[in-house]
Amino acid sequence: MKALILSGGHGTRLRPITHSQQKQLIPIANKPVLFYAMEDVIEAGAEEVGVIVGPNKDQIVETVRSRDWDAKVEFIFQGEPAGLAHTILVAEDFLGEDEFVMYLGDNVIKGGITRHSSIFRDLGPDSLVLLTEVNEPQRFGVADLDEEGRVKRLVEKPQIPPSNYALVGIYFFKPLIIEACKSIEPSWRGELEITDAIQWLIDNGHRVEASIVDGWWKDTGKSEDILEANRLILDEIEPKNEGEVKGSRIFGRAVIGEGCIIESSTIKGPCILGDGCRIRESYIGPYTAINRNCDIEGTEIEDSVVMEECSISNAGRITESLIGKNVKIRESGRRPAGHRLIVGDNSEILL
Ligand code: G1P
Repeated sequence: MKALILSGGHGTRLRPITHSQQKQLIPIANKPVLFYAMEDVIEAGAEEVGVIVGPNKDQIVETVRSRDWDAKVEFIFQGEPAGLAHTILVAEDFLGEDEFVMYLGDNVIKGGITRHSSIFRDLGPDSLVLLTEVNEPQRFGVADLDEEGRVKRLVEKPQIPPSNYALVGIYFFKPLIIEACKSIEPSWRGELEITDAIQWLIDNGHRVEASIVDGWWKDTGKSEDILEANRLILDEIEPKNEGEVKGSRIFGRAVIGEGCIIESSTIKGPCILGDGCRIRESYIGPYTAINRNCDIEGTEIEDSVVMEECSISNAGRITESLIGKNVKIRESGRRPAGHRLIVGDNSEILL
């Protein structure tokens, strides 16, 4: 089996972070979200992984190449993002005549996809889609199922959803899907929708099966979804301490990276501190992921994602925040007192 992992797109719902960073590289518990997809497809037996890259392709290539993978990895340039079905056409040469799993690189699923991959192999349909029940089906592709759980119809972001079963961004296909992608027209949002391509399979008498996800699943398209995925991953983290802890209290499951120095602070898990962080007179609370080489002093941070190389001092209490790379937050100490902000386009600050 091959795998196609989608790592392009503009990530408009995550601006300003995505002005400088490709959304699939945003860390969840200090690991780029894309790596969860890579690990899942390789665990499920993919020997060749095609990574679709778009606007920030160099970032993706560099990050993926920074690790050894137990599979052959190839990068495929999409150019302008023109829909999920378009990526299959761009990858036609890579896919050849093989079966494959397509995995959206900003999705995270508990427990991987091995079970679903076996179902695909055992049942042998032209496509197996993963479904999960959601509260707001209007935000997703939605499946209408018959009494036996077979897929009757799929609709992309319907105003009146036929069910609560959303399409998870993970799909198994036989090569016939390539013909389906060539046969459909762009949707109202101007994209070649994978949902329409799968509907084409159904309309032309081919077999589409569904597999229901039993654990949690997150599409990390918005900042609150990133924070939620971070909580879910941290909930299962194993504690480890490779740092130096002086005059501090550590409670619960905390991962403290190599070269960290924790002084006069309280760390309450589940949380993770990347390598080389310096934490002084601070509180790092549950569901916080602080990436490598951050300096935090005189500050309380909880339920947040802080990316690498940030420096935060005497900043009060920070909660439910997503902080990009190399950000500086500090008390100015100047009079008149007040917030002095130098903030990029599309930022969001809740005081
Ligand atoms: C895409 C698919 C949609 C699916 C969702 C899952 O939506 O079009 O059917 O439910 O991924 O993440 P998009 O992220 O393009 O809005």
